[in-house]
Amino acid sequence: MEETKDNKYQELEKRNQAAELGGGPERIAKIHASGRKTARERINDLLDPETFVELDKLVVHRNQDFGMDKQRIPGDGIVTGYGKIDGRLMYVFAQDFSVFGGSLSRANADKIVKVQELSMKMGAPLIGLNDSGGARIQEGVESLAGYADIFMRNVRASGVVPQISAILGPCAGGAVYSPALTDFIFMTKESSYMFVTGPDVIKTVTHEEVTKEELGGANTHNSKSGVAHFRADDDEQAMMMIRELMSFLPSNNMEDPPVKPCTDSAHRIDEKLQTIVPDNPNKAYDIKDIIHSVADDHNFFEVQPYYAKNIAIGFGRLNGKPVGFVANQPAALAGVLDIDGSIKAARFVRFCDAFNIPIITFTDVPGFLPGTDQEFGGIIKHGAKLIYAYAEATVPKINVITRKAYGGAYCVMSSKHLGGDVNYAYPGAEIAVMGPDGAVNILYRKLNEEEKAKAVEDYREKFCTPYKAAGLGYIDEVIYPRHTRLKLIQALEMTENKRESLPPKKHGNLPL
Ligand code: HXC
Repeated sequence: MEETKDNKYQELEKRNQAAELGGGPERIAKIHASGRKTARERINDLLDPETFVELDKLVVHRNQDFGMDKQRIPGDGIVTGYGKIDGRLMYVFAQDFSVFGGSLSRANADKIVKVQELSMKMGAPLIGLNDSGGARIQEGVESLAGYADIFMRNVRASGVVPQISAILGPCAGGAVYSPALTDFIFMTKESSYMFVTGPDVIKTVTHEEVTKEELGGANTHNSKSGVAHFRADDDEQAMMMIRELMSFLPSNNMEDPPVKPCTDSAHRIDEKLQTIVPDNPNKAYDIKDIIHSVADDHNFFEVQPYYAKNIAIGFGRLNGKPVGFVANQPAALAGVLDIDGSIKAARFVRFCDAFNIPIITFTDVPGFLPGTDQEFGGIIKHGAKLIYAYAEATVPKINVITRKAYGGAYCVMSSKHLGGDVNYAYPGAEIAVMGPDGAVNILYRKLNEEEKAKAVEDYREKFCTPYKAAGLGYIDEVIYPRHTRLKLIQALEMTENKRESLPPKKHGNLPL
């Protein structure tokens, strides 16, 4: 009797051990040698200690072809389940590269779909740790079907629960499209890659030679393509960054984001702000200095810091409450709005709106970037995305014009007319259809240089101030820069119970 029982437990132990060993010590050593961690090690780093509960540990693939019937590893190359970050429920899946290169089988997809559905049903975020060669070649269309099932749930979950992806190894095919449908993508330096087709296929088809680092490494996707949002030095840092990101996000779209106790005084005055914006309108400054100054404990968690640097986006807290910052950056391209910047900011505004995160906008923008590159590239439709995003957003929208707000860019950047709830300006703000030189060149073409210079001065005095807009109520208050933090916190308190809804519709038609 005793012996049968023992056997029973031994059998369970054996199966669990086989699942935990994945593709075996040799393959695990290879993963470690490449500077990566295993799926289980990553989950351990990501979640609060001893909170992980594994699901489907003993699932095996059902493929009979290519000798696969002799290679069934419990878990089938993916670890799924749930656990906690800072005590809050999270669902997670982690692909195990040691088993068939983390490739996706039908059974493997079913495991991901199960956590996707749980995350939606229970209203908790889903974090995917991707390290996969894409569809499992031996399974053919069954694995493709698996990917499509995952994509479908990615889309249905979009705007319902936060979906976070980390790319932690070579990811190809479906392994990049599912992350692309999620809210944020993390990549690790020199050990993660994303491409639809790899260098070998590219060489065959287009004769182009490119390394996988150039084609789809963390630098490429963080600074060139804008596909990724964060770059970490290694797996461990990526997990820490995900934990930090989650601290700003609610668990689902019906919740408010988590409030942290705040020890940084709401009344903190920063004299440096009085002189941070140079008097000379052509002189650059770093808008992030203002964000750091106003945020609780000077903490700004920047999103996409290496891409479209002419606009800065990211999370911070004001009096303990998470907010999203969107800020034109005069230190890069004079802060102009271009295609990349518009798309970057529009997506962020829509994310914040979907998850009840108030949007704080700092405006200092000379206008849209002129030129054939931009026009041929479709700046009209891409710039329209940002207008659309701001106009559609119903979360509290608070704006500070620190200096220039010219032309269409004035309209776009959280203006009163697109539903800005509280609109502030610094005394040096310049709000007009265009800058003085451009305006005089159009209005007074025939004047000589001396007359033009005088006209520029007159225009500057009359229009390049916040007072015309303040006189019309388009600016609610012209504030002393030193008071920015308090003013923002007051505006947030005032808008705390804001309720606004859009007209009933199936969905809008964002200019894609
Ligand atoms: C089955 C795979 C696999 C796959 C890798 N392996 N990818 N097995 N299906 N898709 C296996 C390898 O045979 C190998 O097994 C082990 O995983 C490790 O792979 P290596 O090639 O040795 O590793 P590495 O040199 O690091 O290269 C990793 C890689 C490369 C860049 C991911 O394996 C690769 O290019 N794989 C194919 C990528 C791909 O084209 N996938 C299909 C995409 S189509 P052994 O036993 O030798 O260790 C797709 C459809 C969905 O995903 C599209 C939706 C839109």
